[in-house]
Amino acid sequence: MADFATLDNLDVSGKRVLVRADLNVPMKGGAVTDITRIARLVPTLTELAGKGARVIVASHFGRPRGKAVSEMSLRPLAGPLSKALGDAAVVFATDCVGEEAKKTVDGLEPGGFVLLENVRFHAGEEANDPGFAAALAANADLYVNDAFSCAHRTHASTHAVVELLPAAAGRLMEAELAALAGALENPQHPAAAIVGGAKISTKLNLLGNLCRRLDLLAIGGAMANTFLHAQGVDVGNSLCEHDMAEAARAVLGQAQEASCEIMLPVDAVVARELASGVITRIVAIGEIPKEAMILDVGPQSTADLVGHLETCKSVVWNGPLGAFETPPFDAGTNAVAEAAARLTREGKLISVAGGGDTVAALAHAGVINDLIYVSTAGGAFLEFIEGKDLPGVIALKTATKVPVL
Ligand code: 3PG
Repeated sequence: MADFATLDNLDVSGKRVLVRADLNVPMKGGAVTDITRIARLVPTLTELAGKGARVIVASHFGRPRGKAVSEMSLRPLAGPLSKALGDAAVVFATDCVGEEAKKTVDGLEPGGFVLLENVRFHAGEEANDPGFAAALAANADLYVNDAFSCAHRTHASTHAVVELLPAAAGRLMEAELAALAGALENPQHPAAAIVGGAKISTKLNLLGNLCRRLDLLAIGGAMANTFLHAQGVDVGNSLCEHDMAEAARAVLGQAQEASCEIMLPVDAVVARELASGVITRIVAIGEIPKEAMILDVGPQSTADLVGHLETCKSVVWNGPLGAFETPPFDAGTNAVAEAAARLTREGKLISVAGGGDTVAALAHAGVINDLIYVSTAGGAFLEFIEGKDLPGVIALKTATKVPVL
């Protein structure tokens, strides 16, 4: 058995099972614009329903800060959830606790689904309030956490409730943890990390942790400009955190101490501004014109990184290598993504990616289904690769209520 209980350890038949899901999905004009998080809940929800559970789905949406905010209601999610579940009926409860929730759950047949209103409409959720957790637990017999992407939050529905009901991880939580542990805790060496994105200030701990654990750290995106500047390179008009030069040098020092090779771009695609249709040039690092901005890694840097990936057995990827939303500055990210996908398909590379813009960048490159695992978690993914313990995961690992089986 894993170091936490899973659905294999629960006898759910006829039981009311409270499932903490993450339905914090992107929406525009009342419609879900990316259903990935919903689709990934389906294995857990259908398994529970198939085993005769009464399935109660709890989630947050947005940051309503303890008040009912109609634009952050989960009601519009009942339809997309039902659709993902093969048009199974999903009854919406207008509150996640109290009489409303109880009435709706009491009417639920085995194999049926209830979606509770946003748990963050109650201040007790973010306060990890035991009283609020007890109110959530009052309508359930068992608890399943399938929201890895919320596991960095010490909230009542991810933390305090675990002490009140026999608790287990759902299939998505299991899959995320297995993939991330495989890539980071016990990686197959040589092991690489690719880290891009705009700022090193938000990723210092992550960079330090990666270079202690892995053999190669390839840095791209605007973050690389700060590293280049820290080494005395003139990065022209590029995005650069000039005040982080010292911190960047400290990361380079940590990498050297840990014998982790750092790869920085050797050439770049530059333009006078970030816009489509602008005139671009490829220049060597060290020859960036004063008025130019670095907007993507250059072809030589891309080829070098692909060459290194070919010698690696595992890679963890966070952050795009260039301004991928504005072609042609997507070329570097696309080419490295395609190489990672090809090596994964050939069985040569264990590839795990996630956090922030990474999913959008890999979807743009068309490789989302070709890597071993692409996590839809944002903050939780980043905290995991920083090496932090996630309170939602720790709660499952230390749960004292013993599951039935
Ligand atoms: C996410 O989208 O990363 C999770 O749903 C967590 O949301 P939060 O940052 O509002 O806690």
